[in-house]
Amino acid sequence: MKRSARPLAVITGAASGIGLATSLRFVRERYRVAALDRSEEGLRRLKRSKFGDHVHTYLCDLNDIAALTPLARCIVTELGPPRALVNNAGIWFYERIEECTDEHWLMSLNVNLVAAAALARGFVPAMKRVKDAAIVNVSSRNALSSSPKASSYDAAKAGLLGLTRTLAVELGEYGIRCNAVCPGVIDTPANKKELDDPEFVRNYLRLIPLNRFGRAEDMANVIYFLASDQAAFVTGQYVVADGGQMCGQSYGRVFARKKWAPASSR
Ligand code: NAI
Repeated sequence: MKRSARPLAVITGAASGIGLATSLRFVRERYRVAALDRSEEGLRRLKRSKFGDHVHTYLCDLNDIAALTPLARCIVTELGPPRALVNNAGIWFYERIEECTDEHWLMSLNVNLVAAAALARGFVPAMKRVKDAAIVNVSSRNALSSSPKASSYDAAKAGLLGLTRTLAVELGEYGIRCNAVCPGVIDTPANKKELDDPEFVRNYLRLIPLNRFGRAEDMANVIYFLASDQAAFVTGQYVVADGGQMCGQSYGRVFARKKWAPASSR
C-alpha cells in the first residue's frame, strides 16, 4: 500500500478541548492524525470538519486497557508508524478520599496513566523505525501542586511524569524523545461549569499572574513544540503552562486588602 508522505500523529482525547486543538495544529503542520476518543459524536464532528481528510478516527475507551496495545498495532498496520504519540485524554473526579470509590480510583489511574503506557507499548516498536519520533504526555499542574478532592487524579498525573522520565531514559537510544506538559486551568468543555461561575473566575484569576485562563491552543502550541524538531535535545522534561500560577505565592493578588498581605509580598 502506498503511504502518504505526511507523518502520523496519534492523539488521544482528540474530540474535545486540548486534544481537539492539538489535532488541528498537527494537521496544519502537515501531519495525518489518528484521533482516539470515546465520543462518537465528537469524532464525527472532527471528521466532518475542513481538516477531516487528514484525520482517521478510532472510537475507543481508554479505560479498557487490554484493548489498547492491540489497537495501537492495528493503527500501525492501517496507517504506518507514528512520528508523534500524544497521550492527552484525561478524566477527574472531585471526591474526598473517604468518598472516592475503588472504581473511580482505578478508572482515573487507567485513563490518565496506564493507557499511556499501554499505547506506548503498542506504538514504540514501530516508532523505533521513524526518525525523530516523540511522545508527549499531557499531565497537569496538579501533578506538582495538589488540590483537595483530587487524590486519584493528582496521583495518576504525578505517575505520568514518572512514566515520562522512564520512557525518555529507555527510548533515548532509539532517538525517541518523551516529554510532558503540565497545564494550569484551561478553558475547555471539561471546565465549563467552573468557568461559567463569575465568583470562581474572579477568585481564581488572582492566582494567575497572566490574569487569564489558558486556551486549548496555548497547550497545542506547547505539545507541538515538544513533539517537533525544535525540541530535538529536550527529553524527560515537563513544561508547566499555567500562566505563572506555580511560580509564586501571589499573596498580593490573593489578599485584595493590602494590610492582609505578608510584608514580603507587598
Ligand atoms: P476535555 O474533557 O475537553 O477532553 C477530554 C477528551 O478525552 C474528551 O473528548 C473525552 O471524550 C476523551 N476521553 C475521556 N475519557 C476517555 C476514555 N476513557 N476513552 C477515550 N477518550 C476519553 O478535557 P481537556 O480539558 O481538553 O483535558 C485534556 C487533558 O488535559 C486531560 O488529560 C486533562 O487531565 C489535562 N488537563 C486539563 C486541564 C484543564 O484545565 N482543562 C488542566 C490540567 C490538565
